Amino acid sequence: MVKKVDEIINIFLKDLDSDIVCKLFANISSGKKLRAKLILKIAGESDQALALAAIVEMIQVASLLHDDVIDDSNTRRGQKSINAIFGNKTAIMLGDILYSKAYYELNSISKEVAKVISNGVTELSIGELLDVELSKNFNPNKKLYFEMIYKKTASLIQASAKSAAIISKKDEKSFSLYGKNLGIAFQIIDDILDITSDSKTLGKPALHDFKEGKTTLPYILLYEKLSNNDKLKLKKLFKKDLNDNEKTWLLSEMKKNGVIEESLKIAKELAFEAKENIKKYKNKDLEDIINNMIQRSY
Ligand code: FPP
Ligand code: MG
Repeated sequence: MVKKVDEIINIFLKDLDSDIVCKLFANISSGKKLRAKLILKIAGESDQALALAAIVEMIQVASLLHDDVIDDSNTRRGQKSINAIFGNKTAIMLGDILYSKAYYELNSISKEVAKVISNGVTELSIGELLDVELSKNFNPNKKLYFEMIYKKTASLIQASAKSAAIISKKDEKSFSLYGKNLGIAFQIIDDILDITSDSKTLGKPALHDFKEGKTTLPYILLYEKLSNNDKLKLKKLFKKDLNDNEKTWLLSEMKKNGVIEESLKIAKELAFEAKENIKKYKNKDLEDIINNMIQRSY
């Protein structure tokens, strides 16, 4: 299924008649393709659904190429990122090419779907901008965090699910809500994993997010629970390269205050909500997408 999507992306790229683009693209490792799977599970594997899935994945890859430049990140999906291998200029331009070609192809789907997807991408970009702004200072504001992750992560997932419902003449409202809740839960779980997964080299959590200026949900919940003195202590660790003592303090406070469990509970509630939205379709695959996502955090 996902293989077919890769084949279509390659056909679209061959159209561009540029060896350099094909060569560069070959250095990008194929991801989980959550959005493509979602589209195909909602709309079925029609030619139109496959094209839509390929388009959305091209947009997704483009956004990650740009994101790795913005985050100054050297790895993506366990491999060296394009910016790390070929430099920022190449990564940005490859992103622009993928993104423009995806839009060109989007025109052939329908005007309605083109509007939904392009609106999703605008939201996604506003979300990334918000992320950059919020990362400048410690952010104790939960509302802003939720707004940012909704836009940055859930908007394109929501637009994908809604578009898939449109092309297969299903209930767009239910699928749109399914995508929205799934997307927000997905990002919360990603943020939890940054704290709970051991890094391969250290055998300890890397806690990259806080170092990069991202005050994710567990940190916000922890801040709410700490004494004034400890609030200050937490803020002092923001963006810092943490030593072992500091990491131990942070993790034990998180444990003591149950903030990982609380974050997971919020993600699970959203995941439950997502499943409720599409219950009437009795689509096991779509429910499994949610169940697998929740299981990632154990
Ligand atoms: C990953 O976030 C990034 C996104 C979900 C969105 C990035 C969006 C843009 C750069 C806007 C430009 C869009 C286009 C189409 C060119 P993250 O840094 O939290 O996650 P990561 O750990 O996967 O890097
Ligand atoms: Mg990033």
